[in-house]
Order: sequence, then structure tokens, then C-alpha cells
Amino acid sequence: MAKLLSRQDNHILVTAALPYANGSIHIGHLLEYISTDIFVRALRLLNKDVLYICADDTHGTPIQVNAMKQGVSPRELILKSHKEHYRDLTAFEVSFDNFYLTDSPENQELVYYIYNEALKKGLIYKKEVEQLYCEYDKMFLPDRLVRGTCPVCGAESQYGDVCEKCGAVYNATDLINPKCAICGAKPVIKKSNNYFFKLSALSNELKDWLLSNPQLPKEIVNSMMTWINKGLKDWAISRPKPYFGFPIPNDPNNFFYVWFDAPIGYIASTKNYCDKHGRNFEDYWKSDRAKIIHVIGKDITYFHFLFWPALLISGGFSLPYAEVVHGFVNINGEKMSKSRGTFITASRFLSSKVDPEFLRFYFAVNLSRKLSDINLDFEDFKEKINSNLIGNIANFSYRVLSFTNKNFNSEITDFEFKNMQEEVLKLADEVVDAYLDFNLSLAVKKILEISDIGNKFFQDNAPWKMIKDRSRFEEAHRVVSFTVGIVKILSILLKPILPNYSRQLEVQLGCSDELNFSDINFNLPNKRIGKAKIVIRKLDKEFDEFLEKNHLNKGNNREVEKMDNFSKVDLRVAVVKEVSDHPNADKLYVLKIGLGDEERQLVAGLKKYYKPEELIGKHIIIVANLKHAKLRGVESQGMLLAADNGEAVKVLEAPNSRPGSSVFVEGIEKTPVKELNLDEFLALGLKTISKQAVYLDKPLRTDEEIIRVDMPDGSKIR
Ligand code: MSP
Ligand code: ZN
Repeated sequence: MAKLLSRQDNHILVTAALPYANGSIHIGHLLEYISTDIFVRALRLLNKDVLYICADDTHGTPIQVNAMKQGVSPRELILKSHKEHYRDLTAFEVSFDNFYLTDSPENQELVYYIYNEALKKGLIYKKEVEQLYCEYDKMFLPDRLVRGTCPVCGAESQYGDVCEKCGAVYNATDLINPKCAICGAKPVIKKSNNYFFKLSALSNELKDWLLSNPQLPKEIVNSMMTWINKGLKDWAISRPKPYFGFPIPNDPNNFFYVWFDAPIGYIASTKNYCDKHGRNFEDYWKSDRAKIIHVIGKDITYFHFLFWPALLISGGFSLPYAEVVHGFVNINGEKMSKSRGTFITASRFLSSKVDPEFLRFYFAVNLSRKLSDINLDFEDFKEKINSNLIGNIANFSYRVLSFTNKNFNSEITDFEFKNMQEEVLKLADEVVDAYLDFNLSLAVKKILEISDIGNKFFQDNAPWKMIKDRSRFEEAHRVVSFTVGIVKILSILLKPILPNYSRQLEVQLGCSDELNFSDINFNLPNKRIGKAKIVIRKLDKEFDEFLEKNHLNKGNNREVEKMDNFSKVDLRVAVVKEVSDHPNADKLYVLKIGLGDEERQLVAGLKKYYKPEELIGKHIIIVANLKHAKLRGVESQGMLLAADNGEAVKVLEAPNSRPGSSVFVEGIEKTPVKELNLDEFLALGLKTISKQAVYLDKPLRTDEEIIRVDMPDGSKIR
């Protein structure tokens, strides 16, 4: 692949993909926002005109559905996430120039502008289409609320728009064996109006862009070319209400699909920034001079290499100069998983008290412009931090500076070690070039080489011996002053990765002004350094304990947890479909429930507490592997869970989770037995604490949510 940027390039707009506002920032997101941040910080240190632009991606069905269920407005919901996202990203020193929202007036205006331009060019048409409709929930099912088998590769349980396994994009009606994700019912096909974008009409323009642009990853260009050569399908850009988004002009029943307005959010966020800073966003988005670079994960390439450029073309905007695509973060070699307890959010990582800059360093060590996945292996993490960052760089710097404090009264003298200086400066140049090429792992590798040179030089010359000999004192001073110069260069080169550590090192070096890449030389203007301090320390027992407590270390720990009694239970979400009176008992109901693929019948003593219509449609939680029992002559195939304090009874609910999905406790792997006895279940002692359903002190949860129930602490769950 061609080099991403050269030293001369300027006027650069860098974006990272917009995180969905309906979830927390996690370690996978951080890979993208941190690596892009390192790249951008390097460009700033070269005094480039560069903007780092992002926003929350706020529209779509999940936000709409969650807001409806929580009884708040979607706007309230996204503002809350936005604040949290900003807090988390800032904690990892992600330095966006602008972090905006796609639900903004600027975005709406630009969406309408691009839509109208496309209309004028005859690229939009309206068509009646068949869509999946759930008769039970009485709504058209948006793509994220349908699950079925991918029509291309056969992967099961895929969404209605794109297969997470093979990346194919299709219509929800093409799914094999589709199911409504709300209730599990099989949806029917119904007609509705839809707006389409004629993607195929832009095939040639797209081809030109893909083929004439050496900054796009070859393998992705190839797969896009395959799609184009097969003939692009037109793109459905609207969704019927209820939907949180921008309404289609003159048609309040239809909204722009989230993927139509999300990338336009890149432009809108730039505009919002430029308006605030007296600049013109068109200097970036409608100019031949500027270079637009998108950084994205490999799961969203289709959107960024076909749909997005098509929108830019029809709106008359500049096309991206480059797209940097990265792989996924795996934890200890496996996909992140909530049920395995390896889903690490930003705030969970911060709770470990591990310096957030260590994660930046680890990502930098591992990331180049490749598509391969990044494995966050905590043993390797500890090793890289302890031996490379601390053992090599930080210890060397401290040793050199404190030696200067102690033996030379913090003063620096003139020196000349021509060959070695040249070697270091050459490596430093290579570091800068590696940054310009988004090759962070190469940058770290070269930085470590510089540090090795310094370490070796200090060790080989043994200045602590030299100073004992009066006649060699001056020579020792020259040796040490040279290594101080190396520390200065290291601190500048590390700055994009470790902004805080580097800044502290600069202060210790006696540099009051912030240094940038033009200061890469051996001069220390004041000829005097400040006081050496230890800033970062090795990961030790505290870190091991964090891993242990969070079940993040490999090894036997997980085996132990498997033996936990809780792992024997199979708790699942179910939807209540029918409620009828028990023929032979006054207090009991007979419920028909759906578990996604399966229907069951339960007997429950809820008659005193709930009317049938209050139960119907609820997403409840059942013990799915409880031994079936006959209660007054009616079979109960499992048991629903409710909190009970002797006075009130409330059933546990998981309103945002689909029927059939698993309820679990983080860090305890489920290995359910075939038939569980009631006593075994009751012995677990599930109860409520702080309005959450808990096992020991850990909340029960699904992939979507923690199970909450508004009952006093200590209410029993059974
Ligand atoms: N909202 C869309 C992007 C719209 S851009 C106009 C989206 N959001 S996301 O929150 O799911 O992902 C945001 C970015 O994080 C994407 O580039 C995605 O690839 C990346 N990652 C999400 N999970 C990831 C990992 N586990 N590992 C690495 N990156 C991952 O997609
Ligand atoms: Zn349904």
C-alpha cells in the first residue's frame, strides 16, 4: 500500500467512525479512537493543519425502542450517552477537535441538501416494497429487530441488513427463517412505501474512485469491485415510523435510515467546528487541497466504500483521500463476550487503576495499517508494559536524569558523538515517517531502538565508574549529557502515544515550553534539567488481582468458576403470550410463553398481584431447566422469577432483551444441568440489592441490560 501521508501533505481532516449512542464505549472502540488520536497528535506535532472529527451516531431503532421502554425522550437518552462517551474518551486522552451528535441542525440541513441534490440528479425514487411486519407487535420490523439466517453464507441469527459473519448486505425479506426480535414470532410480509437511492447509476464513478486511489486497502477495493461487477442493488434509504431520525421531506411517515445520515454527520461535525472557529467547512469538504482520511473497523467497509462515496458524489463533495481499516480487538484470543465476562468497557478498564496511557502504548505496539485482529492478551500486556515501556524507556530516562541531578548538579555540558547522534536522528526520522503512515507498531519499534542505543551507551561507558577518576569526570559528563539528549528525543517521539508521561518528562528535562517534532535534536536550551521523578511504575500484584477479580486472566480461574452452583442454572428471557385462570386453583394462572424458538406453559401464583393484561407482552425471566412439575394437575415447564418481600410481589423483567436470550452473571460461565431441582435453585439465594436482581453481589443481566426490579433490598427472588 502506498504511504499514507508525506511530510509535505497538509490540510488533513481525520475522522473516526461515529459510535452508536445506545451503548458504552468499550475496548474495541478504544482501539479506533486511540490509534487515530495517536496519528492526529503526531500530525499536530508536525504543525499540520489537521482536524480530528467525530460524533455520536444517535439515530435508529434501538434508541427509539429503549426510549419508549424507559419512558424518556430519545433526545434525553442520547444526551446522557454523549456525556458518558465524552468522559470515557477523554480519560484515555482522545483529543477530538469536535465530538458532536448526528441529531443536530447542521446534520439535518446537510442531509436534506444531499437528498435534494440526489433528487435533482434523478437518483432517488419511491417504491412500494414488501417489508417484514410483526402482527403481534403491530409494527414494521426495522433491520435490527429481525433475526434470521444469512441468505449468503448461512450464518444463523443475523440482523436484517448485514451479515456479521460474511459482510453481505441484503434486504430483511431475504433472510431465511426470520423472527421478530421483540417477541420471537414469525413476521409476515406487508407492503409499505420506501425511498431508494440508485446506487447502480454511480457504478462508474465509484469504480474510478476505488481504482485511482492508492491509499485504499487493496483487499477491500477488490471485494468492492466484485460487488460492483455483479451489479449494485439500489439502496433503501428510508424506514417507516416509529423511528428516531430525520423525517423524509414532505413525508412524515418515513424517516432517513440511520446509515444515510450517520456519515453525513462527519461533514456536520466539521461544519459545527468551523462555524465556532470562524472557518469554512467547505475548505475541507469541497476543496481539492484538503485530504480526508476515514478510520473505520472492518465491519463497516461496505458503508464507507460504496454508500458513503455515492452520497458524496451526488452531493458534490470531495471524496476521501484515504480510508484506514483496522481489525477487531479480541480479549485473550477470543471475541469479547458479556457472558464470559470479557466485555471490557472503558469505565471497567479505568476501575483497574491501570494508567490509561498503558493501553495507548499497547495498542500502538500492536497496530499497523493491517486488517488483522488485535489480541489483547493480558499476560502479553503486562509483559510489554513492564519490559518495554518501563524496563527499557522509563527506567533509562529516570536513571539518566537522576544521575545528572546527583553528580553534575543537574547541568548539561557540550558533547559530540557524531556517528551515534546521526544514527539516533535517522531513527527519529523513521519514527516520524512511521507515524505519517499510521504504522504505529513500527514507530514504537524504532523508539525502542533509540532507547536501546541510549541504554547500551550508558551501560558500556559506565559513567558511575568514570566519575570516581578525576581525569575522566568531564568525559563522564559528556557521556551522560548525550544520553539526556536521547531522553529528550524519546520524550518528543513518544508524545503522540503517551502525552501525559511525555509532558512530565519534558518538565523534568527543564523544558518549560511544550516541544514538538521540530525540536528533535540534542540541544537543551537551558543547559540545566529539572528534578528526576518516577512517573510510571511496573504492573504488579495489584494488576494481577484486578485480572483475578474480573476473571480476565487465563488459566485455571475460569475452571473454578465453572463449578459455581450458579452455572448449573439456565435463566432465560421469555415473552408472555397468553394468561388464563388455573382450572383448579384460585391463586394460580396458567401462562403461555415464548422463548424465541419454543413455546411453553408455566403455572404461576400471580393472580393476587397482576391482571392478565398486565402480564401479556412482558419479557419475563424463567428458570428454563427446572424439573417440570404438575401443579394441581397442570404441567409447569419451568418457573418465572419474581421478587417477594412478604408484602409485595414483582416479576423480574428484561424489556430490552429478546425472548430466548440468556440471563447470566458476568464472569460465571453457563454450563446448565439438564434438570435442576427447585431446592438447588432456591439455595442460590437470589435477592434484590439497590433495585437490581443479584446473585451474591453480582447483578443478573442479559447482553442488553442489567435486570432491575423496584423492590426493597433483600427481597427474595423465586
Ligand atoms: N455507528 C456506526 C458507525 C457510523 S460511521 C458513519 C458503528 N458504530 S459502532 O459503535 O458499532 O462502532 C464504532 C467503531 O468501532 C467502528 O469502526 C467499529 O468497527 C469499531 N469497533 C466496534 N467494536 C470493535 C471491536 N471489538 N474491535 C475493534 N473495533 C471495533 O459502527
Ligand atoms: Zn414481534
